[in-house]
This record gives sequence, C-alpha cells and structure tokens, in this order.
Amino acid sequence: MKKYIINGGSKLAGEVAVSGSKNVVLKAIIAACLTNEPVEIKNVPLISDVLVMLELVKEIGGHVKLSGHTVKISVEKIRNIKIPLEMGAKIRTSSMFLAPLLARKKEALIPNPGGCRIGARPIDRHIEGLEKMGAVSKYNSRDGYFHVRTNGLKGTMYRFKKNTHTGTETLIMAATLAHGKTVLENAAQEPEVDDLIGLLNSMGAKIKRTEPRTIVIDGVQKLHRATFEIPPDRNEAITFAILSALTGGAIYIKNIDLLDIKNFVSEFKEAGGKWEKKDSKARFYLTGYVKPTHILTAPHPGFMTDWQGPWAIFMTQAEGDSTIHETIYENRFGYVNELAKMGADLEIYQPEVVNPKEFYNFNYRKNGKHGLKIHGKTHLHNAVLNISDLRAGASLVIAALIAKGESIVFGIEYLERGYEAFDKRLRSLGADIDVIEESLEERSRYAGERGIV
Ligand code: EPZ
Repeated sequence: MKKYIINGGSKLAGEVAVSGSKNVVLKAIIAACLTNEPVEIKNVPLISDVLVMLELVKEIGGHVKLSGHTVKISVEKIRNIKIPLEMGAKIRTSSMFLAPLLARKKEALIPNPGGCRIGARPIDRHIEGLEKMGAVSKYNSRDGYFHVRTNGLKGTMYRFKKNTHTGTETLIMAATLAHGKTVLENAAQEPEVDDLIGLLNSMGAKIKRTEPRTIVIDGVQKLHRATFEIPPDRNEAITFAILSALTGGAIYIKNIDLLDIKNFVSEFKEAGGKWEKKDSKARFYLTGYVKPTHILTAPHPGFMTDWQGPWAIFMTQAEGDSTIHETIYENRFGYVNELAKMGADLEIYQPEVVNPKEFYNFNYRKNGKHGLKIHGKTHLHNAVLNISDLRAGASLVIAALIAKGESIVFGIEYLERGYEAFDKRLRSLGADIDVIEESLEERSRYAGERGIV
C-alpha cells in the first residue's frame, strides 16, 4: 500500500495536461468486444481500472496489446462467458460485459458488481432493460453470479425508471447487435454516453439521440474495426481547476472541454471565481473572497456527483455557510471525517425532501443523511488522512496541498484507479509531494481507522 507525504501551503503554477477520460475508456474497452475485428484506442489513461478491464478482455478470449497510451484490442472469438468473481467484483464496469457476451454468445455469467464505498450500486435497471430485449436473468446468491441467457436479443422500447449512466451505455451496446430497433427513454445524458455513441457509430452501429433523453438504435448484423481517441477527463479537469483556484490561480489546464463542465463553471462563477481560456488552455482563479454556495448534485446537465468532494474543499474557504445535497449516491461523504481532522467545520444532515423515494437517484432507505453543511472560512491544517474512494481521495489531496504543514495520505491505490501519475503531475506544478510504501506497522495502525480487517 502506498502513501503520499505532502507539505502543503505553497503556491502552485504551471501547465498540466488532463488524461483521457476514465469513464469513457472503460466503456470503449467493452465496445471493442462487440466486434471480431481489431479496435485501436488512443489517449488511454494508464490507471488501474483500465488494467483490470484489459485483464477481463483477455479472460473472455480477447487479445490486448498496450503500448504507451494506445491499446489494440481484438476479440476474434469469445471463448469464455464467465467474468471471474474476484476480478469482476473489483470494478463496476465489469457488469457491462453483459452486452458483448449476450450479443455474441447469447450467454453471460457476471458477478454482482456489489456495493462499494459510495453506495450499493445495484444493476437492476441494466438487467430489467436486457430482459425487455429478450434476456432471461437469474441471480444465484450462492455463487454471487447473475446467470443471463437469450435466444437472441431483439429491439424493444425501454424507459429507465431513474437515470443510470452505465445502464444506458450497457443497453446501447447490447442494442447495436440486436434484431430490430431499440428506443431507450429517460436515457442518461452524461457526455461520456455520447462519446461512446460516437465510437460505436464509427464501428458501423446506427445510433442517434433523437431527444435530450431518447436514444434510438437500429440493430446491425456486425460491427467492424475502428480507431478512437479518448477525450479529456472532465472530472480530472475540475480537480485541477479547484486546485488552481486555491493555490494562487496559476495552473493552466491543457485540452479541457469547458462545454462538458458548464454547470461547474457557472457554480464556480457564482462562488466568485474567475476563469480565462487562452489557446486551448484554461485557468481558474480568485480575485476576491469565495462566496458560499448551495449545491444539489444531479444527472447531467446538473452538477455532477463526482465533483462534490473537490467542491466541498473549495467551500471550506468560503466566507459563510454552504451546503451540498447529494442525490445520486447514498454514501458519498466518505471524505468528511478526514476533512474534519484538518479543522474543517462540517455537519452531515438530512435536507427536507417531500418524496425521497422519487427524489433520490439511488434506492432510498429511511434514516439516511444526504446533506452536508460546510461552515467557512476555515484554515485547514495538516493531518494523517485515509482515502475511501477515488474522488474523495482527490479531494483530500487538494486539502493537504492547501494546508500548511506535513500531511500523510494513506490509500493511494484508490487514487491510482482513476488518476494517472497524479503525484508526478502535481510535482511538476511545484507541489512538495512524495509517494512511498507504507510500513507494515503503519498499515496495521491505520487498518482500524480504514475499516480494513
Ligand atoms: C457512472 O456510475 C460513473 N462511473 C460514476 O463515476 C458517476 O458518478 C455516475 O455514473 C453518475 O454520472 C462510470 O462511468 C464508470 P448510475 P454508474 O448508474 O453508472 C443507482 C467515478 O468516480 N442505480 O448513473 O454506476 C446507483 O446505485 C464514478 O468516476 C441503481 O440503483 O452510475 C447510483 O446510486 C463514481 N440501479 C445511482 O443509481 C441501477 O441499475 C446512479 O447510478 C443503476 C444505478
């Protein structure tokens, strides 16, 4: 296990390049399994989630050649329809192999992706849609697998009860090779979905978004080879944007697509932030004090749930009381206790909601608390911190970089799931950050805190 040693409080400056989007590349890898011809994917972020997904492609019988940031995938024949439990349970997108396995082999054995630290994350909406396309699914709690089969997927009309980003993508991919037309209603609008549609259409699929939340897919016989470049990661972009604003405003972010983070930019301006774009580089900075804000996370085009952790750090520096109401995941404040160790003044509470079962995007259970109050402005000080999930990790690193003194951040493997060479890029901006292996003694000392038994 690795840890960061961070000496915070200094100004950062320079240029940073945003990596290819994690939440596009993971689905592009699945899309490559829909054809028996080779697919080349460029600008691949070298993150552990990508390596796990490429291992799973090999498990089903595909060939993978990764050189630098380009990967060539060819799944001439699918030789195995079972995704291994241990590896599959590590990553949410393993359930998306349902699409190529059912489309090409009419059968799939998929481990229940299970919960993770941010929530239960079931796939009921994925399975329901596939069943409407003619799949028969049985979950066997003894072996922990979904046993799914079909006599051949057929086009259908399916309306999602609630927004699901990867659920929309799984059904789009399954429908590309189904017999007939599929109409998906109340489909997700996250930009990553449209990036995936672009890739699939370049492989010969026939997909169009006819309304903001309606996607029509005409099934085709087969898909063919393609080359695809992964667009920049918008979650990474806002991590660096907030870091810039809080460390002197002199970080230039290259290859950022502001269109995909429109809601973030408008909230940032609400908070008194400024931004400029100079020849495809964006800089986010402050000229005065930070104003408190009230954020409600929502599916795109709303304020993205993945942004709320870094935003909370930003709001600790606001003059006054801010709130964040998390409506997508039931347990996404994993960073709060850690941030409180640094002197942040936070309180988790339950906002008034008329019909929570309808209102929340997760399957609501009583007595949950889904709001966070942030009293600012607080000067954060150094602490020993434990990362609980990817985006919480990025938030705590920002906090450690603005806090004076030496902080230790454990659980870097969570960060490496989605941020390539994060410490290296931060060092290039002048950050005093080192990554070292934690000792066995430290690991056991902090295991309790991290809930590692
Ligand atoms: C994707 O997760 C992203 N992951 C998430 O990013 C992102 O936060 C989320 O979409 C929202 O945009 C990838 O693309 C790999 P959902 P996903 O299906 O698809 C519940 C990151 O840090 N739900 O829109 O899993 C679910 O539990 C990650 O990069 C069901 O109950 O999100 C969640 O509470 C975190 N049943 C909510 O809906 C279902 O069948 C939203 O889920 C599907 C979802």
